Amino acid sequence: MRHLMSPLDFTVEELDKLFDLANDIEHNMAKYAHACDGKKLATCFYEPSTRTRLSFESAMLNLGGSVIGFSDAGSSSASKGESVSDTIRVISCFADICAIRHPKEGAPMVAASKSSIPVINAGDGGHQHPTQTLTDLLTIRSLKGKLKNFTVGLCGDLKFGRTVHSLIHALIRYPDIQFIFISPEELKVPDYLTDILKEKNIPYEEVIRLEEIMPRLDFLYMTRVQKERFFNEEDYVRLKDFYILDKTKMELAKSDMLVLHPLPRVNEISVEIDDDPRAAYFKQVQYGVYVRMALVLTLLEVEV
Ligand code: NCD
Repeated sequence: MRHLMSPLDFTVEELDKLFDLANDIEHNMAKYAHACDGKKLATCFYEPSTRTRLSFESAMLNLGGSVIGFSDAGSSSASKGESVSDTIRVISCFADICAIRHPKEGAPMVAASKSSIPVINAGDGGHQHPTQTLTDLLTIRSLKGKLKNFTVGLCGDLKFGRTVHSLIHALIRYPDIQFIFISPEELKVPDYLTDILKEKNIPYEEVIRLEEIMPRLDFLYMTRVQKERFFNEEDYVRLKDFYILDKTKMELAKSDMLVLHPLPRVNEISVEIDDDPRAAYFKQVQYGVYVRMALVLTLLEVEV
């Protein structure tokens, strides 16, 4: 039985197979409509979510399966003091597969160690968010036709943004990737990640201003300042609007640069960009459903 805790749980070859499957799903939805008949997905979300939870649920419904779960810790027995380990043992009796999001780093891993069904990490604190990364990689591969030879800009909250951490881990396995990290001093990429880049001789730069590096980027991954992970409101207020991607900045970019964002967006991308053909963040949401369908099929070992 396999779980998904980190994007590195799959080899590059396995990810290729997963993305091929996701693209086949994209073009032949009807073929998969009964692939998970009779199967149940549990979504156990101890933290707010719109996209990830509903994306998982619609993925399972698209496969003919059904869904159970909770969308807030307050409505689960966690509010009575139940541990994640006990909850997953219980969920294992009800469902065939479980997606779990938790504010504590490592909680999905604890769940996986006690589970008798596959567990998917749907985001654990500021640590990892592997299915967002699968979504990001599938989007890039589908829209750019390759997963190599890119100058990647990651901008915003690189300290607390778990989507950024998972994406860096995943991208370093592909050839000729160069990173440019754009953040205020206080929200820089954690050292443990830049240490990995140094060790593997992967080129990266850290800058504060977005404008100066815009013309070099093949894609720009914008992120929200992660309000819920700040220790004080004052710092959040000072940093929240540090970057706002607008038309003027987009004029500096390549004509085929992609703008990605895991969403939700707050102010960091002006709505005037939404109709720019380079804005790919809503397409990304659609790819998220295909890749989660592919993931559920893979972890449940369903052949279509
Ligand atoms: C992200 C998350 O939860 O980490 N959202 C998502 O799942 N698409 C990003 C964020 O909340 O900023």
